[in-house]
Amino acid sequence: MSHIKKNALLEVTKVLIHMSKVWSNRFDSSLNPFIEEFNASISFDKTLIFEDIECSIAHAKMLGKTKVLSTDDSLKIIEGLETIKEDFIEGKFCPGAPSEDIHYCIEEKLINLIGETGKKLHTGRSRNDQVGTDIRLWLRKKIDNIDILLAELQNSLYLIAESNIYTLIPGYTHMQRAQPLSLAHHLLAYLEMFQRDRERLKEVRSRVNISPLGAAALAGTKIKIDRYFTAEELGFENIYKNSIDAVSDRDFCIEFASSSALIMSHLSRISEEIILWVTDEFSFARLTDKCATGSSLMPQKKNPDVPELIRGKTGRVYGHLQSLLTIIKGVPLSYNKDFQEDKEPIFDTVNTISSCLKAMTILLNEGIDFNVEKLMDSVHNDFSNATDLADYLVFKKVPFREAYQVVGDIVKYCLRKDILFKDLKLEEFQTFHNEFKEDIFENLNPINVVKSRNSLGGTGFDQVKIELNNWKKKLFT
Ligand code: ARG
Repeated sequence: MSHIKKNALLEVTKVLIHMSKVWSNRFDSSLNPFIEEFNASISFDKTLIFEDIECSIAHAKMLGKTKVLSTDDSLKIIEGLETIKEDFIEGKFCPGAPSEDIHYCIEEKLINLIGETGKKLHTGRSRNDQVGTDIRLWLRKKIDNIDILLAELQNSLYLIAESNIYTLIPGYTHMQRAQPLSLAHHLLAYLEMFQRDRERLKEVRSRVNISPLGAAALAGTKIKIDRYFTAEELGFENIYKNSIDAVSDRDFCIEFASSSALIMSHLSRISEEIILWVTDEFSFARLTDKCATGSSLMPQKKNPDVPELIRGKTGRVYGHLQSLLTIIKGVPLSYNKDFQEDKEPIFDTVNTISSCLKAMTILLNEGIDFNVEKLMDSVHNDFSNATDLADYLVFKKVPFREAYQVVGDIVKYCLRKDILFKDLKLEEFQTFHNEFKEDIFENLNPINVVKSRNSLGGTGFDQVKIELNNWKKKLFT
């Protein structure tokens, strides 16, 4: 080993030893190795490396601007941080143990890289406001990405809806055939749900986008800092007004987890429907080979693994929400180490909903074909036009409750004979009510049944076209 290399190694070791004890001049012995690992978060908070560097650059810039640091020092620190970022990108720097967390890790690396000046970076801040800033920067970016994934999913649903205005599907309540629907209308219901998810996330984002930086440990600082400057540098819309709240607040994590739980519930519901639709019993749709898997034993099978996984993963996202609520509930003001536990649930929530949204979009785009014939056949062979039979009489001025009872009798009669309404003769209808005329048969045709539900927001084709038009404008312009 060359002399220079040896010296450099010695220097690194010195810095590491020094840094692992940076908070520890007041301590006489080193940390128990197990506890050291127990205490550390570097294994997972290294995810925040870019945000931590971004936050530190803004802080160093601000310290230069307010003259707390000389311009030279400030620039040297910024340059050092940029180098660390590049080294990381190029794989020359791997954050990890023995650093306790990503914040120490970057600080150690900086001191290692630029020497004494690096020790000035932490002036006027604490890891408490630093970690709060990092996680907000990270989450803000992820929310923007999730919004894009939600929009892509909406686009896929829209395209299927657009080409299935006249495809009918049985509509259910209580999992019992209720009334026929336009398939487009059914799918557009999910577009609405995912739109609410996007709105909720937007709202959450506005509360994520507030800077805690400058709150320091909990009380602010006597160092001359400029919180608006760092907030602006980091793209925050506002700053926390109270330094204690700034380092104690994890509401935004819970709000995000809660919005995510709802996203998962929507994904899980559509998954459940797809799983049902592709069963032999329903046969409303078929899985293509792109998104289905086979059974290791039963050669005839094609399994809906994708929607099943999405439905299954919903559990962990709900669990993360529960974890976060529980973590926060007994924590006195202000920062407590409990907060370190916020990261894994948030990271996993983001990863899980991102991959589920993507998987569902792929499934809709290329993994599922609707069995239009079977769908049409289904709505022609049930009693889901019973309400229309009653409504027919209502149009003839028969009070609804009376019409309802008449139709109840007709259903009973048909069931006894094992036939459907359409199999009855006009004379048979007239034995139940003399207002039934020849046009009853036209009224019972499922296409006309759906068409006639033209109330605002109903499944009538004209309404569905209005819906589609509105979505087209919203999604594609
Ligand atoms: N690793 C810590 C966390 O994730 C960083 C903040 C530590 N602050 C402290 N005062 N110990 O919350």
